Amino acid sequence: MTPLLEVRGLTKRFAAGGTLARGAVRTVVDAVDFQVGRAEIVALVGESGSGKSTIARLIARLDTPEAGALCLDGEDVLVREPRGASRAYRRRVQMIFQDPFGSLNPVHTLAHHLERPLELHGRASGAELRPAVHALLAQVGLSPPEEYAALYPHALSGGQRQRVAIARALAPQPELLIADEPTSMLDVSIRMGVLALLRQLRDTRGISLLLITHDLASARFLADRILVLSGGRIVEAGPTAQIVDAPQHPYTRQLLAAAPGATRTAPPATSHGD
Ligand SMILES: Nc1ncnc2c1ncn2[C@@H]1O[C@H](COP(=O)(O)OP(=O)(O)OP(=O)(O)O)[C@@H](O)[C@H]1O
Ligand SMILES: [Mg+2]
Repeated sequence: MTPLLEVRGLTKRFAAGGTLARGAVRTVVDAVDFQVGRAEIVALVGESGSGKSTIARLIARLDTPEAGALCLDGEDVLVREPRGASRAYRRRVQMIFQDPFGSLNPVHTLAHHLERPLELHGRASGAELRPAVHALLAQVGLSPPEEYAALYPHALSGGQRQRVAIARALAPQPELLIADEPTSMLDVSIRMGVLALLRQLRDTRGISLLLITHDLASARFLADRILVLSGGRIVEAGPTAQIVDAPQHPYTRQLLAAAPGATRTAPPATSHGD
């Protein structure tokens, strides 16, 4: 069966910078191959600087790779849309960022934040907007939605803001969500609720998720498969239990040793919501 997303030989280089190294380039994503199936959660883990966010940006087409194929449903979008992603692609692949404070505009209500993508992607207009906004808010656990719709971002906690960012990403009804460290800026006590929401979206709506994290405990809790990235290369990949219980690569063992919570059977942090 054709995977929803297949990345082959994905390569990104940046100028190394500095006068001595004028013209030099550094390969930060080096011939990366992986797939994300339908309704599958794949975690991309690795230390800071290993290239995780760069891979996320390449798949979201916020940046362009030097080489490689980026296939959605078996079709290489870099060939079909070489000059930039179409609206159709952006509708199918949505991204959630790390910083729930920076991602919302303080002068707009939550309703405004959600109406725009609904209209832009043709999911609702006119009198359909209000109920569509309420449905999105309810879907991410912000109830009663009528009350949340009228609020401004400053009235929300970090976890609630991240839920709004998730609702906004859901507005176009995407097939793939890319979440780049979605809980790392949140208080540990509310991370679990956001991770559980992401899992619920997969379970109930069949959304695929590429979860980017340096936190193996989150990956263990959520992911079906884990990819371990080091220096821009995938050094190990496999089902979550295999990676956590029987890591083969020394770098994976190092990551596990640095994250004792990852080997527990309990989830990373428990909470009663946010
Ligand atoms: N626009 C850019 N120009 C030059 N170098 C860049 C650029 N973006 C990223 N890099 C470099 O590429 C490497 C990978 O960065 P990236 O942000 O993908 O890492 P990461 O795994 O997401 O790290 P973190 O866990 O800290 O978020 C880093 O060395 C970074 O400095
Ligand atoms: Mg990053």
